[in-house]
Amino acid sequence: MTGQPGRIAVPTAENIARAATLLRAGKLVALPTETVYGLGADALDPQATAAIFAAKGRPADHPLIVHLPSAEHLPRWARRIPKEAIALARAFWPGPLTLILPRDADVPDAVTGGQDTVGLRVPNHPVALALLTAFDSGIAAPSANRFGRISPTTAAHVEHELGERVDLILDGGPCQVGIESTILDLSRDAPEILRPGAITAEDIARVIGRRPKVRGEAAAPVEETVDTPRVSGSLAAHYAPSTPLRLLPAEMLVEEAAELAGEGSRVAVLAHGCADPGDSRFTWIAAGADAAVYAHDLYAHLRALDALGADFILVETPPVHPAWSAIADRLGRAAVGSGAREAP
Ligand code: TXA
Ligand code: MG
Repeated sequence: MTGQPGRIAVPTAENIARAATLLRAGKLVALPTETVYGLGADALDPQATAAIFAAKGRPADHPLIVHLPSAEHLPRWARRIPKEAIALARAFWPGPLTLILPRDADVPDAVTGGQDTVGLRVPNHPVALALLTAFDSGIAAPSANRFGRISPTTAAHVEHELGERVDLILDGGPCQVGIESTILDLSRDAPEILRPGAITAEDIARVIGRRPKVRGEAAAPVEETVDTPRVSGSLAAHYAPSTPLRLLPAEMLVEEAAELAGEGSRVAVLAHGCADPGDSRFTWIAAGADAAVYAHDLYAHLRALDALGADFILVETPPVHPAWSAIADRLGRAAVGSGAREAP
């Protein structure tokens, strides 16, 4: 390894070749993508993909996304490729869009969770693309975190999450996008976004000429008051810090932080619009009002705030706007899943 401690490797040509060799031997390699770091294994090797589930502590019925070197590999993985998939691949790949398509018979059940579909994407990161090109096949890769925890956006986060459970971590620097890809289901009649991401329903509509359904979104837009949560309460615990996390609108943020601090609680705040009141009793991160920058830093901020060991993390409710919908989704899930103190 070139000069860095632990499993973290600089992505030299030599280390990328080594990573491809490890994948061929059924080992686990963490790789940078533009969204978050992935925990990669040979998607055609059921034993290797089983090792992903073991390393993450993830239930076997949660399918994995297969990462491809280019859209030309699609026919090996999907038995039917609708025109809309080709148009979207042309528009957004490499990029943060995962397409759910009818699987090819050769795709192992271990990858698809036994479903008749497979999730596919071409990531937009030079290191991921170099590794995929060297490997010349599909790399199954979920986010490289323990199940239910915050996704990693740096190599150090991966090392912290998985330690010796991963054989090599290619260090591609901090992830550009910072939150997971948009997942679009094209396996049924109507396209449906299963997970919002940087590529929005509006972006997709511009390419395919119809707006996809968005899971969890009301059919007709509803008037939302500022303190109405963007997401329902029935969400799985996911993307969650171990410190209890609450979402609060700007006008309640300072008041609530001061009240909790007054009760002797240690409070950490993640704001984007609300001004820092300069109260020394709480830690305040001003993330700024640019959605792309906010997403880029979100998981690093949540990790930093979680590491303070505060009693509460208060997060200013994100704006109701398409550019913020993926952020609102992740924060909603973080709030639902937060507070599991025993977790790492
Ligand atoms: O940005 C990303 O998508 C990152 C990077 C590493 O590419 N990957 C990622 O993977 O977020 P993961 O496993 O943490 O989340 C993938 C999600 C899971 O919720 C899984 O259930 C869903 O994709 N998924 C995968 N295959 C599916 C399928 N065939 N049908 C429905 N959902 C699927
Ligand atoms: Mg994940």
